[in-house]
Amino acid sequence: MSDPQQELIERSRATTLTSWTSQKAWDPLTMVRAEGVYFWDANGKRWLDWSSQLINLNLGHGHPRVVKAIQEQAARFCYAYPKIATEPRARLGELLREIASGDLAVSFFTTGGADAVENAMKMARLYSGRQKVITRYRSYHGATFGAMTAGGDPRRLANEPGVPWIVRFHGPYSYRSPLYRDRSPEEGDQVVADLLEQTVLYEGPENIAAILLEGYSGSSGILQGGETFWRRVQEICDRYDILLIVDEVMSGFGRTGEWFGIDHYPFVKPDLMAMAKGLTSGYVPMGAVMVTQQIADHFQDHTLWAGLTYSSHPLACATAIACIEAYRDEGLIDNARDMGKVLRKGLMDLAERHPCVGEVRGTGLHQVIELVKDRASREPMSGFNQPLSEPMQAVARTLREQGLSTFVRWNWVFCAPPLVVDESQIQEGLRMLDQALAAADAYVES
Ligand SMILES: Cc1ncc(COP(=O)(O)O)c(C=O)c1O
Repeated sequence: MSDPQQELIERSRATTLTSWTSQKAWDPLTMVRAEGVYFWDANGKRWLDWSSQLINLNLGHGHPRVVKAIQEQAARFCYAYPKIATEPRARLGELLREIASGDLAVSFFTTGGADAVENAMKMARLYSGRQKVITRYRSYHGATFGAMTAGGDPRRLANEPGVPWIVRFHGPYSYRSPLYRDRSPEEGDQVVADLLEQTVLYEGPENIAAILLEGYSGSSGILQGGETFWRRVQEICDRYDILLIVDEVMSGFGRTGEWFGIDHYPFVKPDLMAMAKGLTSGYVPMGAVMVTQQIADHFQDHTLWAGLTYSSHPLACATAIACIEAYRDEGLIDNARDMGKVLRKGLMDLAERHPCVGEVRGTGLHQVIELVKDRASREPMSGFNQPLSEPMQAVARTLREQGLSTFVRWNWVFCAPPLVVDESQIQEGLRMLDQALAAADAYVES
C-alpha cells in the first residue's frame, strides 16, 4: 500500500537538499494543509505549531487579510525593479515609520534576514567610515558570509574564516556564564558591559562602526541581558560615537509582546534595525533595514553601495502592509503579551513538577526551556554543539508522537506559537510538553 507521507519525503529527498544537517539525518515532517496554529501532514495527522515554523509565521497559517492582499497585488503586478516607485513600497515605508522604535525613520527593503543584517552593516560602515563591527558570542544573524561571521553561534564554524572585521564579546547568560557566578543577574550584566567597553577600547573606538545585537536574543537560547546591560550598551555607543544596530529579525513584530524586542528598553535608541520574518509573517520572503533620518540623509549625497534584484518587491511589500495592519487592527501584539503570560505561567508550573527543567527564559510568545541532568550542578541534558543526547531525543520523540511541532536544540525546547494563539491552544501545547518533560525526568541524576 502506498504511504503518501513516505512518498512525499522520498521525492523531496531525491531532488532537493536541506539546511543545517547531513542529508541522511533529515527526518522531515510533511505539510499538505494548514490553518491558524495547526497544520496537517500527508497522513492526515494534525500538528500544533509551537514554533511558528521558523519563529516567523507570527499570524499563523492562512490569514485571510494577508492572502487577499497577496492575491490582489499579484493580479495588479508582481514585480517592479528596485528603482521604480510603487504604492506598496511607499505605503510600507510609511507604516514602518509609524511603528518603528526610537528615531528610526527610513527603510531599505531586502529579501530576508541575513541580507538585512548585511546591508545594515554596510550602511553603518559607509556612514561612519569605520571598519569593525562588534557582536556577541551566542547570537545568530544569518548564514551569508558577513552575517554568519557576525553571529556567535557555532553554525558559523564550518564556513570560517568569514569577514575579517567582526570582533565578538561574551554576552549575557546569567544561568551559565562564569561572568555571573556568585553574582546577581544585574551584577553580571554590569561585568559583561564593562568587558564590552574594554573590548571597544582594545579594538580602538575610532575603528568601530557599530555594535550589533539581537533586540531580544533568539535561536542561540534567548540569552537576554536586562536593563543594566542595555543602559550600558547605549552609554558605550554614545561615549565612543559608535552606531547601534539592533537585529529584530526574530524578535520583531510582536513576538515578545512589543512591536520590537528592544521596545522593552525604551531608553535604547537604535541607529539601524534589521527586520524580516514577522514582517511578512513568512508568507513571502522579505527583510528590511530601518535607519534614522540622519543616516538616511547621509545617503542623499553619498551613493548607497548596496542592491538586490528583489529589493522593494511589490508583492512582498503588499504582504508586509497586510501583516502590519493585521497585527495592529486585531490587537495581536497585546494578544502576544497576554498569551505570553499564560504560556509563562504554564511553563513555570511545569518547571515546578519536572526536575529536568533548569530554567525557563523569555518574554511574550518567545520562551525556551533549558533542561538539566541535575538542578544543583546545572549539567545540561545535552551538551553545547553536540549531537542530541538520548534524553533530548526522547523529548523530541515524545513531542512528535503527540503532534507538537517545535525546535529541540541541544538541551533547549523552544516555545513560540503564532501570535493568534488562544488560551486553549496554549493549554493543549503545555499538556504535550508535560509528557515530553516526564520522559526527560527519567534521566535526572539527583
Ligand atoms: C536574529 C536573526 N537574525 C537574522 C536571521 C537570518 O534571517 P534569514 O534566515 O531570513 O536570512 C535570523 C534567522 O533565524 C535571526 O534569528
